[in-house]
Amino acid sequence: MQFAERVQNLEISGIRKLFEAAGPDSINLGLGQPDFDTPAHIKEGAIQAIQEGKTGYTPNLGIPELRDALSRKFDRENGLRYAPSEIIVTAGASEALHIAMQAIINPGDRVLFSDPGFVSYGALAELAGGVPSPVPLDDHLHIDLDATFEAMDGARAMVLNSPANPTGVVEPEETIRGIVEYADDQGVIVISDEVYEHFIYGATHYSAGRYGANVITINAASKTYAMTGWRIGSLAATQEIIDECLKVHQYILACATSISQYAALCAYTGDQSVVTGMRDEYHARRDLLAGGLQEMGFDFPLPEGAFYLFVPMDQDFIEAIISSGVIIVPGPAFGDKGRGYARFSYAASRDMLHEALNRIEQLL
Ligand SMILES: Cc1ncc(COP(=O)(O)O)c(C=O)c1O
Repeated sequence: MQFAERVQNLEISGIRKLFEAAGPDSINLGLGQPDFDTPAHIKEGAIQAIQEGKTGYTPNLGIPELRDALSRKFDRENGLRYAPSEIIVTAGASEALHIAMQAIINPGDRVLFSDPGFVSYGALAELAGGVPSPVPLDDHLHIDLDATFEAMDGARAMVLNSPANPTGVVEPEETIRGIVEYADDQGVIVISDEVYEHFIYGATHYSAGRYGANVITINAASKTYAMTGWRIGSLAATQEIIDECLKVHQYILACATSISQYAALCAYTGDQSVVTGMRDEYHARRDLLAGGLQEMGFDFPLPEGAFYLFVPMDQDFIEAIISSGVIIVPGPAFGDKGRGYARFSYAASRDMLHEALNRIEQLL
């Protein structure tokens, strides 16, 4: 049968394949999602929405109350001024990334993103007809500004992701500002994926949108509130950009799930200590897992964000770890420059992390 080339050429994510191969007593440190349950008051918001019959289509942009709450959140937490009309509620950050690319990429346009980087960026750029243009990180897994500026020549868009998946690296203000300002000079749009903004240990998050209007801010309730399955994200940008993105959103989705939008409203307007509670737990788990690996002789800088460690190790050892029943993701799943690394997620209980460390120690 004939299929569209742009789809046929895409590879299915290697991460999923690994999970499918996992045995029953495996410890899964491969997951990119919180292991916490969604907080009770958020679930209550959804239950109430169902009971009140709020189960029809919502406005394409999303329910006004949620866009108001997001507008206030951006102002309060990110120093960003987006009016409610400049925010689209999406089906997770995934849909937001998709519609951003569909709205701005023309055939052959180059889209920059970090290598190693989150698996979706290159695939979504290709689906939009663009040309994925991975830019290698520096030796410390930070964005290499010189290489980025060079690659920006003639590019259409750049995806910025801090805190980053898979490295956990948090970029400093001068990097975020430098990229946005240089991109503005070059006519490049910055797509800033900030889904891990709240999981930062000691460093500070800088939202790219503070430094220029050429930024599309992507965010989500998914990681922040342990709501990955609810599928709620957002895309915020200038009205001119929103008007184009809305066309794509309207035709592919109509609107985000009504019930999930009411749940997200409770998340953004409710008690924020649920977020700091999860952050503190991730912090302790990062120290536990990183400390254990470092004691075994693995040498890597402590990442300051997200819930990942990106650890240098050879392919044979990665395979031995996976064979021992500890699922981790080989670095090449995130790009060519991920070779020689493995991603460990610490979105798993401390008991699981202890057990994983025991199994790995036995392999040495
Ligand atoms: C960097 C990054 N962006 C976006 C997403 C997708 O988020 P969502 O579940 O909100 O679609 C993920 C999920 O792992 C991610 O790691």
